[in-house]
Amino acid sequence: MAFSRHCRLLLPFLYMFIMLINRQVNSADEEDNLLQGINSYRASLNLTALTKNDNAACFASQISDQFKDQPCTNTTGANTVPGTETQLSNYPTLLSHCHLNISNTRDGIIMPACVPNLVPSLVLSNFTKSQYSNYLNDSTYSGAGIGSDGNWIVVVLSTNASSGSFETATSASFISEPLLISHLLIFLMGCFLV
Ligand SMILES: *[C@@H]1O[C@H](CO)[C@@H](O)[C@H](O)[C@H]1NC(C)=O
Ligand SMILES: *[C@@H]1O[C@H](CO)[C@@H](O)[C@H](O)[C@H]1NC(C)=O
Ligand SMILES: *[C@@H]1O[C@H](CO)[C@@H](O)[C@H](O)[C@H]1NC(C)=O
Ligand SMILES: *[C@@H]1O[C@H](CO)[C@@H](O)[C@H](O)[C@H]1NC(C)=O
Ligand SMILES: *[C@@H]1O[C@H](CO)[C@@H](O)[C@H](O)[C@H]1NC(C)=O
Ligand SMILES: *[C@@H]1O[C@H](CO)[C@@H](O)[C@H](O)[C@H]1NC(C)=O
Repeated sequence: MAFSRHCRLLLPFLYMFIMLINRQVNSADEEDNLLQGINSYRASLNLTALTKNDNAACFASQISDQFKDQPCTNTTGANTVPGTETQLSNYPTLLSHCHLNISNTRDGIIMPACVPNLVPSLVLSNFTKSQYSNYLNDSTYSGAGIGSDGNWIVVVLSTNASSGSFETATSASFISEPLLISHLLIFLMGCFLV
């Protein structure tokens, strides 16, 4: 089965693409670990587990993308002095990227943390042993979405009320990754066929 020259030139990109997917899977593991850790913490406080909220997770990864180039210091992330939080001017754009309306996210909580290499134990304690622990120790919140980029990991808490549910404004679903994979498969089949 011969690769055409055309396809051989594209192999490095295929490799990069696979590495990218792989990285996304790794960060998904980190995010799942953190949610488990947070839920064990909640269990120790006799609170119900937070359920995974995919829309909140979409928003969390948008936020982590905004922070990713900022270095970790003793005044960023979980160390931020209350009242000096970074204000994101493109907040409405980030919301609309996830098909969210501010009227369904108002009561949500955004908690960014910066931990070099996202060392799991430090990541967890940045949430359970910082100012954020007050929000985790609160039965108002019933769901969570987590996103990460670089050294930043962001937890977004949602509630059961419509003012914090993170339900999408439109019913449009956006499943981009399986779409990409299927495109890649078709592309590869094209390579084998020529
Ligand atoms: C959790 O509930 C158990 C049993 O109801 C009780 O013994 C324990 O003290 C509670 N813990 C907290 C932190 O409220
Ligand atoms: C943060 O670090 C700087 C220098 O590294 C230090 O001067 C400052 O006191 C620290 N602030 C806090 C809140 O720990
Ligand atoms: C958000 O929802 C409110 C009430 O449902 C609506 O009036 C508003 O136009 C929506 N905003 C956007 C940007 O969709
Ligand atoms: C949060 O993570 C930083 C690393 O960026 C670490 O130095 C700090 O001790 C952690 N804070 C807590 C409360 O665990
Ligand atoms: C959690 O919240 C309860 C009630 O508000 C409080 O009594 C308790 O001390 C808190 N626990 C922690 C570990 O913050
Ligand atoms: C939120 O809704 C879910 C599913 O409807 C339910 O299982 C959960 O108990 C509710 N949590 C709170 C705090 O009301």
